[in-house]
Amino acid sequence: MRVAVGVTGGVAAYKAAELVRLLQQEGLEVEVAMTRAAREFVTPLTFAALTGRKVITEMFGAENAAPANVENAIEHIAVAQRIDALVIAPATADFLARMANGLADDFLSTLVLATKAPVIVAPAMNVNMWEHAATQENLGRLRARGVRVVEPGEGYLACGMTGAGRLAEIEGIARAVCETLGLKHDLAGETLLITAGPTREEVDPVRYLTNRSSGKMGYALAEAALRRGARVILVSGPVALAPPEKVEFVPVRTAEEMRKAMFEQLPQATVVLMAAAVADYRPANPAVQKIKRGTGPLTLELAPTPDILAEVATQKGSRTLVGFAAETTDLAENARGKLLRKGADLLVANDVTQQGAGFDVDTNIVTLLRRDGSQLELPKMTKQDLASRILDEVAALRGTAGRDRSR
Ligand code: PMT
Repeated sequence: MRVAVGVTGGVAAYKAAELVRLLQQEGLEVEVAMTRAAREFVTPLTFAALTGRKVITEMFGAENAAPANVENAIEHIAVAQRIDALVIAPATADFLARMANGLADDFLSTLVLATKAPVIVAPAMNVNMWEHAATQENLGRLRARGVRVVEPGEGYLACGMTGAGRLAEIEGIARAVCETLGLKHDLAGETLLITAGPTREEVDPVRYLTNRSSGKMGYALAEAALRRGARVILVSGPVALAPPEKVEFVPVRTAEEMRKAMFEQLPQATVVLMAAAVADYRPANPAVQKIKRGTGPLTLELAPTPDILAEVATQKGSRTLVGFAAETTDLAENARGKLLRKGADLLVANDVTQQGAGFDVDTNIVTLLRRDGSQLELPKMTKQDLASRILDEVAALRGTAGRDRSR
């Protein structure tokens, strides 16, 4: 989702940089528009560096530039259409007055009129300006039009006075944006231990047995959980993906290494999600030297690996345990057997023979099997959307659904 942050000219303008960072951490794409007055307090370079995008400052190209730049002249329409929310922080008394009167005399005020996305304002000003009847009337008009106002805090103000008018806490402004966008923060306080990817079982120093897991499912879960406020420990087999920023990352190779890592991390976890495709067998006696080519057939003896999910279930305690099942026949029947045998609370079963499901694709098609015997067949969806859906189930099992336990 995309958010535009509008910065207007107040001392608190520098705090908008922190707002940009917080919104980015929520997985949002952020672009910034600044009024001329805002640029007296902070330079656009700060925001350009944070967002990696051009900061929009002028309606008609660079100041005093002639001729006017047509691309810039219609940019407010392009931005207005691509954003899912517009947040103006800090919003000065002057800018609120211009908004209330529907003025469109610079890029940001024009964007306010041109967008159909929800608008959030976080006012910041001197206490007398805040309490002035004109400001309050303007805010009343904006609220009546559906603008969300994040009330300023009270305290010592930059002008030396004390009272209401201080820009609200940045976390509160970010939360208002997330709420407006329907982003949840219901897993705050939970620690999710997630496995992802394949394991590699050594045959000899240069060969191994593995499977086609790309890690996409497990990494999507990790990213979605972070966005919902959880602490995330990601135990991952070898994959080509970069771990999401802010996860605690534990790389492993073999099933045995994954088992060890899981039991080391388990005491901290309140929820365990096992999306990894762990090898069920490993070569019983990996060769110390590279196996030489011979003329006859070669038999490899395999030994079972530990069933990590089943072992974790023996130490489940109050944790919520989610397993996955990769099936090729009789999906529901086999998966329900696994749910009970492995002691999970929820099993995510994918028929990996279906197109667009299972290994190494961006989508999945699954049935969710619950311990109470109920099940839910989900249509094909991206692994990102499925991750959110699975976390909805987790939140329901933890009794946190609908609760915002953030920050
Ligand atoms: O990584 P991707 O390319 O995105 O693909 C996603 C996926 C297909 C790997 C994923 O959706 C999935 O189905 N993961 C589970 C694969 C699997 O190993 O299924 P299983 O039915 O063999 O195992 C059942 C459960 O027991 C799994 O939670 C597995 O992690 C766990 N297990 C299996 C074997 C073992 N020795 N120890 C385990 O803990």
